[in-house]
Amino acid sequence: MAKQEDIFKNVISHAKEYGFIFPSSEIYDGLSAVYDYAQNGVELKKNIRDYWWKSMVQMHENIVGIDAAIFMHPTTWKASGHVDAFNDPLIDNKDSKKRYRADVLIEDYAEKLNQKAQKEIEKAKARFGDAFDEAQYVATNERVKGYLDQKTAILQRMAKGLDSGDLADVKALIEELEIACPESGSKNWTEVRQFNLMFGTKLGASADTAMDLYLRPETAQGIFVNFLNVQKTGRMKIPFGIAQTGKAFRNEIVARQFIFRMREFEQMEMQFFVKPGEEMKWYEYWKETRLKWHNSLGLGAENYRFHDHEKLAHYANAAADIEFNFPFGFKELEGIHSRTDFDLKAHEQFSGKKLQYFDTEENRNYVPYVVETSVGLDRMFLAVFSKALQEETLEDGSTRTVLRLPSVLAPTKAAVLPLVKKDGLPEVAREIVDDLKWDFNVAYDEKDAVGRRYRRQDALGTPFCITVDHQTLEDKTVTIRHRDTMEQQRVAISELRGIINNEVSMRNWLMKM
Ligand code: GAP
Repeated sequence: MAKQEDIFKNVISHAKEYGFIFPSSEIYDGLSAVYDYAQNGVELKKNIRDYWWKSMVQMHENIVGIDAAIFMHPTTWKASGHVDAFNDPLIDNKDSKKRYRADVLIEDYAEKLNQKAQKEIEKAKARFGDAFDEAQYVATNERVKGYLDQKTAILQRMAKGLDSGDLADVKALIEELEIACPESGSKNWTEVRQFNLMFGTKLGASADTAMDLYLRPETAQGIFVNFLNVQKTGRMKIPFGIAQTGKAFRNEIVARQFIFRMREFEQMEMQFFVKPGEEMKWYEYWKETRLKWHNSLGLGAENYRFHDHEKLAHYANAAADIEFNFPFGFKELEGIHSRTDFDLKAHEQFSGKKLQYFDTEENRNYVPYVVETSVGLDRMFLAVFSKALQEETLEDGSTRTVLRLPSVLAPTKAAVLPLVKKDGLPEVAREIVDDLKWDFNVAYDEKDAVGRRYRRQDALGTPFCITVDHQTLEDKTVTIRHRDTMEQQRVAISELRGIINNEVSMRNWLMKM
């Protein structure tokens, strides 16, 4: 089995064993692609959400938050284009009876060509050393050029087929490339069909009068329909943003890879309203700003990259993903979209209400353009959690599992451990907990030998362990152990709050942006 698969399996089992994520309704054998956040997971998730909210809303004078309802008037989704265009192209394999997204099968094929090209480039880099000119090599090496040209041609043909609705050509492409079912190896495919991803439900008690509703597939529309309410009541001046976090629902055809692709998930979105013509400037600004936010968490700049979209969503004139190096390779973590005035104009048209901004400097009304940043909270969780989970071999040859979470996000900031369960040590430890819990999420643990308790906190990602021993009774000092270095210091109890705060405060982490 590939090593990557082992790492990913380990991530999933660690998340369950240590109370981060459970399969939904597990006693009934679970529900496909639906998960519950457990006692530690919910804290980590909340901390990620707070870190986003602080940086996007509270640190920007011109961005405010809302919390719109999940149910919206059904015309919302007609106007937004989701009823007609929020589809994925699906294809079934007749032999294995497995269902796939046709575009994903083709993209995976194209990525393999890309990987072949990158392998050649890496080999050449190693051979030529400092003298290596990558651009020239790619332009002149027939084999590498061939791989990359073929990749581009495939993706362009797929985009053309999907944009024009020529699904027969998308199927023809799959056949020409001889793409086989990853499960069975069979090339016996059905036609490609479009499948709408929205979940429907009903509002109302009687079957005759009930209204068809959708569970929102993105939080963004709750912002668009409230654009003028917020602008007027908040006296907002363009450029300004409206942010929200909340649940979204998609009936994903292929929901795999744990919490990467779920049917019920949470988004953190911000719509930034700008003067028409200035959208590309702001699009670039938000691309860079969002990347800086991700990098502030210290998971390694090499784990992020931009991917500019070839195939644009129905509302966008430019779009890029911030991709993250997940245990299964680089995949989308966040989307930055220039959504033009598509949504506001469509809502004007369908509602018959004006959604325009009066620009006092220009003395005219216009429909603003929108740049959106949209990151999945669950995907952020997976990114942070999977990169943080490490197996380390220590100097004495033993191993430890440590969850090196950015300490600002760690569910528990410190665990307070009495060395033994007697001699008054538990009472002092409880006093420390009672004091620190006003400022931080802290835990008390007296079970097992102290070494085992350290290991357990390492696996939970707790940045500090504070041990109360007999010396504490004499001089009011404790040892504080750092998760990452395992170093221990003797410090006064009165210093603890400052030490922890210095390490976990959002201020110190966000200052790195
Ligand atoms: N409002 C724009 C929008 O929804 P998107 O690219 O479809 O754009 C934005 O989604 C982000 O939401 C993605 O980058 C991803 O992080 C997250 N996301 C989308 N579908 C998801 C799913 N099925 N499960 C988990 N996260 C998802």
